[in-house]
Amino acid sequence: MFMQNIKVYIDEHYISLIDELKEWLRVPSVSADPHYQSSVLKMSDLVADSLKKAGADNVELLPTGGFPVVFGEKIVNPDAPTVIVYGHYDVQPPDPLDLWISPPFEPEVRDNTGNSLGNIYARGAADDKGQVFIHVKAFEWMVKNNALPCNVKFLIEGEEEVGSAHLADFLQQYKEKFVGDVFLISDTSLIANDIPSITVGLRGLTYMEVEVHGPKIDLHSGVYGGAVPNPANVLCKMIAQLHDENGRINISGFYDDVQELTEEERKALAQAPFDEATYMKELDLAGVSGETGYTTMERSSIRPTLDVNGIWSGYTGEGAKTVLPAKAFAKISMRLVPNQNPEKIARLFDNHFKKIAPPYVKVKVSHHHGGYPVVVSTDTPEYMAADLAMQETFSKKPVPVRGGGSIPIVALFEKILGLKSVLMGFGLDSDAIHSPNERFGIFNLMKGIETIPAFYKHYAVLKTKKL
Ligand code: BES
Ligand code: MN
Ligand code: MN
Repeated sequence: MFMQNIKVYIDEHYISLIDELKEWLRVPSVSADPHYQSSVLKMSDLVADSLKKAGADNVELLPTGGFPVVFGEKIVNPDAPTVIVYGHYDVQPPDPLDLWISPPFEPEVRDNTGNSLGNIYARGAADDKGQVFIHVKAFEWMVKNNALPCNVKFLIEGEEEVGSAHLADFLQQYKEKFVGDVFLISDTSLIANDIPSITVGLRGLTYMEVEVHGPKIDLHSGVYGGAVPNPANVLCKMIAQLHDENGRINISGFYDDVQELTEEERKALAQAPFDEATYMKELDLAGVSGETGYTTMERSSIRPTLDVNGIWSGYTGEGAKTVLPAKAFAKISMRLVPNQNPEKIARLFDNHFKKIAPPYVKVKVSHHHGGYPVVVSTDTPEYMAADLAMQETFSKKPVPVRGGGSIPIVALFEKILGLKSVLMGFGLDSDAIHSPNERFGIFNLMKGIETIPAFYKHYAVLKTKKL
């Protein structure tokens, strides 16, 4: 059997690979904003088309209560293990637009100076279109070269960035369709291009929105100010009370279920290379801050957090307007760690926030999306396959790391389908996902395409041995 080398394939298709990814990146599939609804649907069609072209069978859009799931599969041998590739084709809103150097949905390759291959800039480049694209192209190469040792199913959703609200019901409904052995997910990052890593943990999430109501309408801040409660002042004071002086979250019961790491586990995680000075420099920070007794890396991965994600009230336009606002609002996220329950945390927050409100304002608390935290064990055939695959293509053993972000559906794959996941992402933390000028390294794109077939190769062997 003639089998073209994956590296040769990448070299020969270098330009067309980038062009096809650009086509994906031109579709503004913003799931959060109804204004983009038709584009999100268009994106689902485009992913389906690429999957068909890649050689997938039974490609279809499966309806959910929201945007459809793109499905496709290739069953090469009923006795071979089945890998289910999960990813998302929706993206975050691109705002603030004026900070983008090139428009978010007009992908452009830049920074290709010296021996750098450059980056492709666009919303969704790294999160997650570029990484889903890796899987489609690696799959295409394996199919065309008869080099697919596992069965593959694709589950590419369109609502990850809004909390995957319809996916739990969807999984219940399509349980039989998603019979398999493991989920393979590329939606996380590497430590660096020369320090490969595999994500072994994700934080959970509870996302709340609060309102503080003062007077029935906006008032003159001179005529009424000083006597009428100002909801913006009150909200800020309430938020300020949510952390204590040690950076711990001041909600009673918040830490009750937190699984503390052993000294050994903390030592193991501290093995991952991290340079605080570089971190500060990259973010243009004068200093770091957080919970006393934990390192920056721990604060951003194994410890729970509470952060204001948005806050607004009163006059925020040009110039000065003297006004005492009637209402103040904030969106607040809490990142959760293993054993914390997002619903329970929502209840604790709700009670606490109402309890600390002064009697002269009205408070409303609502709960947006949430998700359970995830831990991945390293002594499984899938982790070992990912480890071997990366060793092969990066010439270095990947480091296990706990990620700080969340992928809400991963815990439900285990709960509903009984399936574990392997989180082998190819982005970088510096890709500016969710920020202006999101990018994905061309090196990362090509390295991903090169690594995925190695994963399948090792997984087929290791999984079959294990059985
Ligand atoms: N891909 C990210 C999650 C991520 C990024 C994990 C980097 C680890 C490292 C995902 O698309 C994401 O942004 N998730 C949201 C979840 C939310 C919208 C429900 C998050 O973490 O904020
Ligand atoms: Mn993502
Ligand atoms: Mn995201």
